[in-house]
Amino acid sequence: MSDSPRPTRPTKLLSRETADGEGYPAVDGTELYAGDIAKVQVTQAQIRAKITELAEKVAADYPDVRSDLLLVGVLKGAVMFMTDLARALTIPVQLEFMAVSSYGSATSSSGVVRILKDLDRDIEGRHVLIVEDIIDSGLTLSWLLKNLATRNPASLEVCTLLRKADAVKVDVPVRYVGFDIPNEFVVGYGLDYAERYRDLPYIGTLHPKVYTG
Ligand code: IMP
Ligand code: MG
Repeated sequence: MSDSPRPTRPTKLLSRETADGEGYPAVDGTELYAGDIAKVQVTQAQIRAKITELAEKVAADYPDVRSDLLLVGVLKGAVMFMTDLARALTIPVQLEFMAVSSYGSATSSSGVVRILKDLDRDIEGRHVLIVEDIIDSGLTLSWLLKNLATRNPASLEVCTLLRKADAVKVDVPVRYVGFDIPNEFVVGYGLDYAERYRDLPYIGTLHPKVYTG
């Protein structure tokens, strides 16, 4: 056996390495999901800047929360946003997750919600911030707000990265909104279509061919 150093394997050049200058390298969706992304709606740089801005607002609004602020995320869509927001916040936070499923078709929600995974802890007396990926009809969130309110948190607010123009079916109080976007189905940065595309670091619309197969 030779004791010469093992050759360094060449770094595999993923499409993720199309760098955008800072932080995580940018992904070229046309390479990662060849031809599936029709249009980029919110770029990686825009998401990053918005999270910094939202984190400053949130931190300023909870200056002296005695127990740490509790971020409640809805799986799986909110995961990317929630973890980036948590890292950008300059106040201590704790993370809790819920999984819910809304009955109805795949791309629109009916407002009938079932808990698949509940919180691991009691939120009574805690300052709770629900972190959402997107508010479309608002039905899921409206249900969630009612459900969590019955558990007597000290406060209950909502922070969503995206809000669609049609988020008017139910009037839900949303304290922090990242981007208002048109009524199109979007994927990326946590959002999926049939569980795909969550790993894109930007948000975009899909090429119609994806839906038609
Ligand atoms: P709502 O109850 O209609 O507000 O929708 C709630 C959930 O549906 C969101 O948290 C997402 O998980 C999902 N959803 C709504 N719009 C989109 C979209 O454009 N892309 C991916 N998922 C979406
Ligand atoms: Mg969701």
